[in-house]
Amino acid sequence: MGGHVVLGVSGGIAAYKSVEILRSLVRRGSGVRVIMTRHATEFVHPRTFAVLSGHPVEVDQWSRPTEPGVDHVELSRWADLLLIAPATANILAKLAAGVADDALTTYALAHRGDLLLAPAMNTVMWTSPAVRQALSVLRERGAHVVEPGSGELACGDEGEGRLADPERIVDASLRLLPRRGPLAGLGILVTAGPTREPVDLVRVLTNRSSGRMGVALAQAAADLGARVTLLHGPLGVPRPLGVACHRVETAAEMGAALERMAPRHDAAFLVAAVADFCPVRPVEGKMDRREGGGTLELEPVPDLAAALGAREDRPYLVVFAAEAGEDRDRASAKMRTKGADAVVLNDITAEGLGMEAADNAVTVITASGGERAVPRAPKEAVAREILLALAGEILERTGGR
Ligand SMILES: Cc1cc2nc3c(=O)[nH]c(=O)nc-3n(C[C@H](O)[C@H](O)[C@H](O)COP(=O)(O)O)c2cc1C
Repeated sequence: MGGHVVLGVSGGIAAYKSVEILRSLVRRGSGVRVIMTRHATEFVHPRTFAVLSGHPVEVDQWSRPTEPGVDHVELSRWADLLLIAPATANILAKLAAGVADDALTTYALAHRGDLLLAPAMNTVMWTSPAVRQALSVLRERGAHVVEPGSGELACGDEGEGRLADPERIVDASLRLLPRRGPLAGLGILVTAGPTREPVDLVRVLTNRSSGRMGVALAQAAADLGARVTLLHGPLGVPRPLGVACHRVETAAEMGAALERMAPRHDAAFLVAAVADFCPVRPVEGKMDRREGGGTLELEPVPDLAAALGAREDRPYLVVFAAEAGEDRDRASAKMRTKGADAVVLNDITAEGLGMEAADNAVTVITASGGERAVPRAPKEAVAREILLALAGEILERTGGR
């Protein structure tokens, strides 16, 4: 995904969580430079950030008296985003007032890109008029804020003010960063997970899909620079970062969302294990075992891939074929019937591969006659290979932008 982040760490107890934020940003391909306030170093040693970012950490702007450059000006030419996490009440007030009396606040004034604040403090401080006012001034100036969560605070109190979940902060950061990589400029839609068809008020008809392959594909596409939308049913794995996620329940809901969203994308990867059947009439209320058994009448759900494949304004369409055995002919036939441009064939009977497994091995077949085998690897690595195998055709279709 890339992008350059200046991570500002101020002196709150949640400073240790910014170590996890730094690691996650680096893992997603971002370059990160850290500036700490002096008070932040009371909580975490700068060395931790230096080692994990691979760059010196700035604490004292007067520490290199013989160097000619003006650090904050040079850094602002490099940075896309200034993320301050945790942001103390003190730093919010200083930013709002334009105070520049240490390395972080001086840099904040020189910074030209987006500003993302992740405040963290005791509930009483969080609800104080001074903090409310500082935040409203900063928001008015265009700052983005990841609101703190509620729960047990380090001081023992219970309430609002806890630093937002690091994953949420990373997700918000990635959405603000420019997309760089071989898929930059492309919009990619991915469907993932199972759907759930109601049988009665509490029971559903679903399948064993964890959504892992679709989530891996969405994450890999975002990491390769694409703007990604994930349309998903209930997931058994964490959602991808830097991706717009839309949760649906039934095949009908997924179909409606797909109709609406797919034409706004350059490619659609239909990875979801959509229920093939749904009950004709869900039972009202809850079925009662004391009333004995019964027969569930099922009907096939509409074929989402074929419906999309038949549209003139469809994006480059990739379907997934989970077959028992490596049946290329069946997979190619599926691609043609659905009107798809490519099919990804995976053998669900192979030991340790497929639906609930961590690994996969696939063959990518295109309508234009291409074929690429992706050998067994974790789904995240397989996802990247699938995207790279099809990137050329997708870019060609969109005029190479
Ligand atoms: C143990 C301890 C925990 C603190 N936690 C927070 C906090 O979570 N949020 C906050 O706004 N201030 C917190 N403070 C107060 C700040 O450290 C203090 O306002 C300091 O001046 C902030 O400086 P800085 O914004 O330059 O880092 C804490 C202070 C101590 C001693």
